Amino acid sequence: MGAKNVNSYPSNRINVSNNPIITKDVGDNRAARRKPAGMPPKVRARSNAVSRLPPGLRQVLWLSGHSCMNPFGAHNAGTMNKNILTKIEDHVGVATLNRPKVLNALSSELMDELIAALESFDNDREVRVIVITGSEKAFAAGADIGDMAEASFLDMYEKNNLARWLKIKNVRKPIIAAVSGFCLGGGCELAMICDMIVASESAKFGQPEINLGIIPGAGGTQRLTRAIGKYRAMEVILAGKYLSAHEAFDAGLVTRVVSKERFYAEAMILAREIAKRPPIAVQIGKDAVCKALELSLNDGLEYERRVFYSLFATQDQKEGMKAFAEKRPAKFEGR
Ligand code: CAA
Repeated sequence: MGAKNVNSYPSNRINVSNNPIITKDVGDNRAARRKPAGMPPKVRARSNAVSRLPPGLRQVLWLSGHSCMNPFGAHNAGTMNKNILTKIEDHVGVATLNRPKVLNALSSELMDELIAALESFDNDREVRVIVITGSEKAFAAGADIGDMAEASFLDMYEKNNLARWLKIKNVRKPIIAAVSGFCLGGGCELAMICDMIVASESAKFGQPEINLGIIPGAGGTQRLTRAIGKYRAMEVILAGKYLSAHEAFDAGLVTRVVSKERFYAEAMILAREIAKRPPIAVQIGKDAVCKALELSLNDGLEYERRVFYSLFATQDQKEGMKAFAEKRPAKFEGR
């Protein structure tokens, strides 16, 4: 199956379907602010018209792929996204972080776009697995420091921006982080909220928030500690130590380390392997593994038993076992 762009930045200067490593500066907010006239006039006019719609309607139009949300027509079913690029290929939904000038720093706007894209993938039957990636130089260098530098306690408390990360945790389809280069702060937390991490040998994982007078706020102290243990997590969080890809692998943070040329391709191979499996069982399997981090052993075993029995209500279980008996490949429909 070929690539289908479900949204694209309103520029024809890039082609993510052929090259997932975004090297051109098309998604940086600051550049966009400096050069608003850089967009073609028609795009600007349509964007303005759309921006006058109520936010709820804009969201509905975007999710429905309405052509008015796409400056290049209905075929591309695009969105107004500036900070991420998405496509669907072989049942894999890919979201590429795209703020190269600031090493994919996770601005509030980028997080809104990412969460909307992930929720859209989660609701799309065509998508069975999700991949989040960045560039070869940076998966993401953390939350956007510029967004927070002048914030007061009240600003942070009232906006409660980090609470929306729960929406990523609640995505039911498996998410693979394809990581290269800097994977720091909120970037490392984003990778850790994913279910698997395929790392390029150039990847650097870290939680350097301590150098800014803060600590990780999107799960770093909890997920890193569960992944690599208290004694190594303390060094990363209190001393700001980076872990190389191989150190991260040895510590249990990373699924697989591959060459920097292959990190995206290998993540896609893994995603396609999972996408061939029965989708409901895959989602329930993800859920059960995640429960292991939250429940006692007895509660986890009880939970696993219940969801195991529930899979006997699916057609895919019947098909999987019949195909085994008939010595043929199973055809899973997600029913
Ligand atoms: N936010 C905003 N801008 C960032 C950024 C971030 N997290 N990380 C990098 N940038 C910007 C830099 O300001 C720089 O912009 P200019 O060219 O306009 O100066 C550009 O990206 C390139 O960065 P550098 O010139 O610094 O590149 P480098 O190769 O010399 O260093 C780096 C790379 C070591 C990653 C360094 O940029 C760095 O230390 N970044 C900050 C990492 C960090 O502290 N992350 C934690 C953020 S807080 C957080 O994430 C909280 C949370 O838990 C939610």
